[in-house]
Amino acid sequence: MVISFSCSASRKATWILALLFMMSRVHGQSTRGFVSVDCGLTNSSAYNDGITNIRFDSDRGYVAGGLSHTILAEYMVGSDEQQKTLRSFPDGSRNCYTLPSTFGKKFLLRATFTYGNYDGLNRTLDGSPFLFGLHIGVNFWDTVNLTNWDPSLTVWKEVLTVAPGNSVSVCLINFGSGTPFMSALELRPLLDAMYPFVNTSVSVGYFRRIRFGEATEYITRYPVDPYDRFWEGWSFSYNTYPWINLNTSSQVEILPGDDYFNVPMAIFQKATTLDTNYSFIVINASLGPNVVPESVRLLPIFHFAEINGNNMQRSFDIYNADDVLHRGFSPSRLQASSLYNSGQFLYNGDAVYTLNKARGSSLPPLINAFEVYSLLRMENFTTDSEDGRIMQISGPGSFRCEDLSCDMFKCNYDKLMAEICLVNYIKQVKAHYNLTRIDWNGDPCSPREYTWEGLTCGYSSSNKNPRIVRVNMSSSGLGGGLAISLLNMTSLENFNLANNKLEGPIPSYILRRFQAGLLDLRLEGNPICSKVKDMYCSNKKKHTTPTVLIAVIVPVVLVSLLVVMCILWKLCHKGNSGDYEDYATYEEETPLHIDIRRFTYAELKLMTKDFQSIIGKGGFGIVYHGILENGDEVAVKVLMETSIAKSTDFLPEL
Ligand SMILES: *[C@@H]1O[C@H](CO)[C@@H](O)[C@H](O)[C@H]1NC(C)=O
Ligand SMILES: *[C@@H]1O[C@H](CO)[C@@H](O)[C@H](O)[C@H]1NC(C)=O
Ligand SMILES: *[C@@H]1O[C@H](CO)[C@@H](O)[C@H](O)[C@H]1NC(C)=O
Ligand SMILES: *[C@@H]1O[C@H](CO)[C@@H](O)[C@H](O)[C@H]1NC(C)=O
Ligand SMILES: *[C@@H]1O[C@H](CO)[C@@H](O)[C@H](O)[C@H]1NC(C)=O
Ligand SMILES: *[C@@H]1O[C@H](CO)[C@@H](O)[C@H](O)[C@H]1NC(C)=O
Ligand SMILES: *[C@@H]1O[C@H](CO)[C@@H](O)[C@H](O)[C@H]1NC(C)=O
Ligand SMILES: *[C@@H]1O[C@H](CO)[C@@H](O)[C@H](O)[C@H]1NC(C)=O
Ligand SMILES: *[C@@H]1O[C@H](CO)[C@@H](O)[C@H](O)[C@H]1NC(C)=O
Ligand SMILES: *[C@@H]1O[C@H](CO)[C@@H](O)[C@H](O)[C@H]1NC(C)=O
Ligand SMILES: *[C@@H]1O[C@H](CO)[C@@H](O)[C@H](O)[C@H]1NC(C)=O
Repeated sequence: MVISFSCSASRKATWILALLFMMSRVHGQSTRGFVSVDCGLTNSSAYNDGITNIRFDSDRGYVAGGLSHTILAEYMVGSDEQQKTLRSFPDGSRNCYTLPSTFGKKFLLRATFTYGNYDGLNRTLDGSPFLFGLHIGVNFWDTVNLTNWDPSLTVWKEVLTVAPGNSVSVCLINFGSGTPFMSALELRPLLDAMYPFVNTSVSVGYFRRIRFGEATEYITRYPVDPYDRFWEGWSFSYNTYPWINLNTSSQVEILPGDDYFNVPMAIFQKATTLDTNYSFIVINASLGPNVVPESVRLLPIFHFAEINGNNMQRSFDIYNADDVLHRGFSPSRLQASSLYNSGQFLYNGDAVYTLNKARGSSLPPLINAFEVYSLLRMENFTTDSEDGRIMQISGPGSFRCEDLSCDMFKCNYDKLMAEICLVNYIKQVKAHYNLTRIDWNGDPCSPREYTWEGLTCGYSSSNKNPRIVRVNMSSSGLGGGLAISLLNMTSLENFNLANNKLEGPIPSYILRRFQAGLLDLRLEGNPICSKVKDMYCSNKKKHTTPTVLIAVIVPVVLVSLLVVMCILWKLCHKGNSGDYEDYATYEEETPLHIDIRRFTYAELKLMTKDFQSIIGKGGFGIVYHGILENGDEVAVKVLMETSIAKSTDFLPEL
């Protein structure tokens, strides 16, 4: 269980092989970059879907926890293969799937839900609310509302988003109104140019996507649409108009450079219009009472191509509720056009759009397809990617994450690998040690209310990504075949592993930070302490020597730089072990002798040699190495904040 931070070439090779092995084993091979997960599939062999021929994998390796179920036999008939099984999550307030993706790439993610009365409780029809939440990464995505829902029907949710890292997580949130579950999860890469209003700060949620004309199938998807969007056929029973469906076998031209939507030509080759003595088409995009459009802001996109055989002129206005969006639009003959107002997300409580024949037009409106998306602001930040590499942890199972070692720093797949290792770790450890840390799932610090149990995060406003500041995994039954390493978590200040069964050596990076006084490490009560007699093994009963903590508060004119010197480096220096104590014990047991002394900014500049030597980066700012006049080494902690009052955690930390 040795974790080595020195990277030899052979180790690197092993790691690359391990990576390749893992990528192919866990994620299968898909030339198109599709990731397709059939949740709850117990038959672990992947299969190709009978209709789309898309390969689906089981959700093993993408999620920790949850229970596999099968829908009732009466709902199996006619059901898609993926909808026959599901995974439910009775435990934990947040449970996340983690899928591989590529940083900064745009993609569509779709989750489907078919209840099928899998638990025999008739939950969708028992009269009480049945709903749960969905997060895309650390941001809210949508509510799945199955109240009063036909158990045989499938709900699907889609989001178009930009990958925040090399993996993306989809989390199910328990609202206390029924057990969250999922039937399938699909990730489909898009081109970067597509949906230009989607960027790192704005994602869009599927609201409706409809094609017109006489489609042979209820939902048009892959392979007709290479991006596997779901295009629902328009239900002509919605309105009693004398609908007229048009079709053409001629090519519909897509102008070069118009690659924002890449709507399949087959969809442009069909359209719907009305009898000529009608003048308007009302499009009701509402999905019924379970999806309420009132609270959301919607962006409609309309797709048109004139495919009528005769040469009569057609022009019409497009309304969002009562407001004109586009006036006097004439679709070009056999040429695709998509109309949308980029970035204009509109309130439209009914999700009703109207195409109104313009004055002078000889033909009524025509439409080929439309899409409606809701605005999702990606306002919450993931935990700092340095910390996001998180703990590379391995369990007693077959795959050992420590084999990956430190080369992860250099690899694009680092975060993914760490998260997958974590997922495996949770599964295996929970099984072996009956661990109760069921909320170790998804992003460690974000959103705030879902912070992992045992972690304390820093949310200083000067640093937008939260950082992990403290980890408490004491008395967690860690040990035996377990090894834990923390990668480059420069913000970590307190790491408590006391009273576990850990044996392995401490990674040198951790030791260095400990010796520099930047990390409070607690390992007492572990087998490792029977071999090593270092201060991190000191137990609380040992006698303690009084010590001096120097705090420096400097008001600085220009930047309001607040500098606090918190730890005497010398105190923690390893060479003098034995006599010295883990300073954390003082916190709890010894009345501190605090010597408050003011330093000027000039003095600090001098002692840190102009803030040259950075020895760490905390949740509040950078930590510098400095030397006092008397030769004592100090750590100078800089608070990057205009007011100390804003950083409520800083003083207690001191
Ligand atoms: C698992 O799926 C494979 C391929 O679809 C099939 O051949 C096999 O019989 C299935 N096994 C079980 C136990 O259902
Ligand atoms: C489920 O509940 C509804 C409403 O109470 C009832 O009509 C239906 O028969 C029940 N179905 C089953 C399978 O229990
Ligand atoms: C961001 O996080 C805050 C606090 O955790 C939460 O209240 C808010 O709803 C989140 N925003 C989104 C878009 O999820
Ligand atoms: C993201 O797109 C929205 C419109 O959809 C735009 O208002 C915003 O400025 C964009 N943000 C960035 C960072 O490009
Ligand atoms: C196309 O339209 C013609 C009538 O204009 C109709 O006879 C034919 O069945 C349609 N084809 C399809 C595939 O809908
Ligand atoms: C529309 O015109 C047709 C004849 O072209 C006629 O049969 C029909 O009644 C008219 N409908 C309306 C609502 O005027
Ligand atoms: C739109 O459709 C929904 C359900 O499909 C219905 O409840 C609503 O009344 C309709 N709105 C309009 C304006 O027709
Ligand atoms: C969920 O659906 C039910 C039944 O259609 C509806 O009454 C309720 O308002 C919906 N709840 C939410 C939060 O959308
Ligand atoms: C885990 O808990 C179960 C039931 O609570 C118990 O039967 C089992 O022995 C426990 N396993 C371990 C390794 O403690
Ligand atoms: C650390 O965790 C243990 C066990 O969960 C708990 O008893 C202890 O109070 C925690 N310590 C701190 C400082 O939170
Ligand atoms: C930690 O990360 C920083 C940059 O984020 C890098 O400069 C430093 O070398 C890393 N340290 C280790 C031990 O990898």
